Amino acid sequence: TVVVRREMKISGRWAKAMGIVKEFEEKCATPIGKLRQVADAMSIEMHAGLASEGGSKLKMLISYVDNLPSGEEEGLFYALDLGGTNFRVLRVHLGGREKGVVSQEFEEVSIPPHLMTGTSHELFGYIAEALAKFVATETAGSHPPPGRKRELGFTFSFPVRQLSIASGTLIKWTKGFSIEDAVGEDVVGELVKALERVGLDMHVTALVNDTIGTLAGGRFYNPNVIAAVILGTGTNAAYVERAQAIPKWHGPLPKSGEMVINMEWGNFRSSHIPLTEYDHALDAESLNPGEQIFEKIISGMYLGEIVRRVLLKMAEEAAFFGDEVPAKLRIPFILRTPDMSAMHHDTSPDLKVVSSKLKDILEISNTSLKMRKVVIDTCGIVAARGARLSAAGIYGILKKLGRDNAKEGESKQEKSVIALDGGLFEHYTKFRACMESTLKELIGEGVPGNVVIEHSNDGSGIGAALLAASHSQYLEA
Ligand code: GLC
Repeated sequence: TVVVRREMKISGRWAKAMGIVKEFEEKCATPIGKLRQVADAMSIEMHAGLASEGGSKLKMLISYVDNLPSGEEEGLFYALDLGGTNFRVLRVHLGGREKGVVSQEFEEVSIPPHLMTGTSHELFGYIAEALAKFVATETAGSHPPPGRKRELGFTFSFPVRQLSIASGTLIKWTKGFSIEDAVGEDVVGELVKALERVGLDMHVTALVNDTIGTLAGGRFYNPNVIAAVILGTGTNAAYVERAQAIPKWHGPLPKSGEMVINMEWGNFRSSHIPLTEYDHALDAESLNPGEQIFEKIISGMYLGEIVRRVLLKMAEEAAFFGDEVPAKLRIPFILRTPDMSAMHHDTSPDLKVVSSKLKDILEISNTSLKMRKVVIDTCGIVAARGARLSAAGIYGILKKLGRDNAKEGESKQEKSVIALDGGLFEHYTKFRACMESTLKELIGEGVPGNVVIEHSNDGSGIGAALLAASHSQYLEA
C-alpha cells in the first residue's frame, strides 16, 4: 500500500503540473482572429500617436530622418551602437554608388551590469573610453582627411524625443537600464561631455534609434525597404510615413514628403493581447512596471524569464521537480532566452540539451524524458505567443500603410520589404519561423509575395554611419 500510495501521489502531482501547463497554454492562445484584432488596434494607435503628442501609448517619435540613404554616401564614418547588453563601435568606409560599403571594422564591448543602473557619467565615460581605444587603432588609410573632424552616428536604442537629427532627450529607459540622472537629458550632450573628458575630438552627426539605423541600412541595399523591426533584447519598429499624415509635425514639410517614425511599439498594449498571471507578476517586479507590455511578452530579455516563472509555479504547486523546489529556479532572469532556445531546438532522442541546461543552470538533475518534453512545450508556448504577436504588429503597420491588400484592379503591386534584425530573430530559429509563417497567414490572399522579410544583418550600425554621412557637416549644400 505504501507503493500504491506513492504512485497515486506521483500521478496526482503530474496531473496537477499538466493542468498548470494547459491553463497557461489556453491563456496564451493567439488564434488568427485575435491577431487581426491586435493588428487593427496597432494601426489605430499609430494614427492616434501621430495625431498628437501623448495621443497614444505608441509614442510614434519623429526621427528627423526625412531622407534615407541613396547609395551615394561616401567617406569614413564612425558609429556607436548602444542599446543592449553589449555596445559596439564601428568604423565604416563608404565608397558611394559604385563601391558601396568598402570596409567596416568593429569592436564589441559588454557593458558591466552595474553600469546599467549607475550614473550617466559612469556609463558614458565607459563608452567614451572604449571609443577612444578603437579610434587609436586607425591606420594611415583610415584617418579622416586633413582639416576634417571625425564624424559619428550614434545609435541609442531607447525612446528619445529628438530635437534635431543630432540631439534628443531621453524619455525613459527600457530593457533593464535605469539611470535616473540621464532621463530628460540630451544624450548627445552626455556623450560629447564624456568624449571631451577622454580628449576625443569627434563630431556627433546623427542620433538614431536602432530601428531607424536598421531601416537606413536596409534601404541602402534595397530601395523597397519601407519598415524595420528589431526582435532582440527589446522589440520595436520604425517605418516611412508621409509627412502629411503626421498632424503633430509642425516643422517644415520635408522635400521628400516623408518622415521616418520610431514607433516604440514595445510600449504597445491592447485588451486583445493575451496576458497571464506570470506576465503580470513579471511586469510588477520589473524596473518599469506598467510599461513596455508588448516588449515584455515578445522580446529576448523576457521570454526565458516567463518560462522560469511557469516552471517555478509547477515546482511549487505540483512538486514537478520533486519534493523540494529547486532553489536556483527562484532566481529572476537566471534562465536566459538563448538557453530557452537551445532547449526548444533540442532534437536528440533523449533530450540531452534540455537535461544538461536544467542541470547546469538550475541544478535540477534526474529529470525524466516526459518532464523534459513538458519543459520544451512550455518554451514552445511562450515563443509562439511572442512570435505570433510580433507578426500581428508588422501586419498592423502594413494595414496603416494600406499595403496589406492589393486594391481592386491594381495590376502592378508594390513590394513591401521589412528589414528585420536582432538576436532573437537571428538565432531563435523556431521563433523566426513562427513569426514568418504567421505573417503569411495574416496576409493570406492579400498580397502574396509582395511582402518580404529581409534580414538586415547588422544594419543598425552601418545605418548610423550612413546617416552620419548623409548629414555630414562637410556636405556641400
Ligand atoms: C526598446 C527600446 C527601443 C529599441 C528596442 C529594440 O524597446 O525602447 O528604443 O528600439 O528596445 O532595441
